[in-house]
Amino acid sequence: MSRVALVTGGSRGIGAAISMALKEAGYTVAATYAGNDEAAAKFTEETGIKTYKWSVADYDACADGIAKVEADLGPVEVLVNNAGITRDAPFHKMSREQWQEVMDTNLSGVFNMTHPLWPGMRERKFGRVINISSINGQKGQFGQANYSAAKAGDIGFTKALAQEGARAGITVNVICPGYIATEMVMAVPEKVRESIISTIPVGRLGEPEDIARCVVFLASDEAGFITGSTITANGGQYLA
Ligand code: CAA
Repeated sequence: MSRVALVTGGSRGIGAAISMALKEAGYTVAATYAGNDEAAAKFTEETGIKTYKWSVADYDACADGIAKVEADLGPVEVLVNNAGITRDAPFHKMSREQWQEVMDTNLSGVFNMTHPLWPGMRERKFGRVINISSINGQKGQFGQANYSAAKAGDIGFTKALAQEGARAGITVNVICPGYIATEMVMAVPEKVRESIISTIPVGRLGEPEDIARCVVFLASDEAGFITGSTITANGGQYLA
């Protein structure tokens, strides 16, 4: 029987590419989304991948949603914490809401999704937790005090949890994508985006599939010796 993989924010952007690549690799995939019903329905229609709606920022919704996925598909053995949002503003203009929303989704969301799945992974002595952080969690970014803090937190979370999971056959790793051609990056003002691209040595934005391939590798049984690791995929923009 194929392993079940759950991808948060898995119907759009990098998440959609991850969901599709895992399906292609033989996993039974479930994708969560928070708000865009239309995109999720279209994604399911085109790919056959089941989508589930809940906010990763809500612990109870995560626990209930995971129970539903497991009832439908079986125990989740691969978790990809991909869901993320931006609320960019220079710090002097950043509101408490902009800070909190990003923390709730990008950092607490990772806790909220991993925590309910952890006991089952420990019992079965197998699990793959793959967190999607960001280049900006490594280097910081003007206008992203909230996002950079949350994404750096995801890296610390990964390193701590990897040590706890190791004996139970659970690996926990984090991928730091650079600037990838998704709606999130396209929302950055064009002039700012152009100046960012000029600092990427490979001379282009990344593709969602560049990240999806890293996920498929980390999810595989063959990657069992890799844990607590940070995979940097940013076209050489920042050498961590
Ligand atoms: N370094 C230094 N100064 C900068 C700067 C930078 N990188 N960017 C802007 N500034 C300066 C501006 O030149 C301006 O200075 P002056 O007032 O002297 O002209 C000042 O800061 C204020 O800039 P703005 O008027 O543009 O401020 P704003 O409130 O309109 O917007 C911003 C600021 C929202 C941060 C905007 O610059 C922006 O969107 N920046 C991009 C942030 C970014 O990279 N986000 C990544 C999104 S994609 C993502 O997050 C995915 C991922 O993981 C990679």
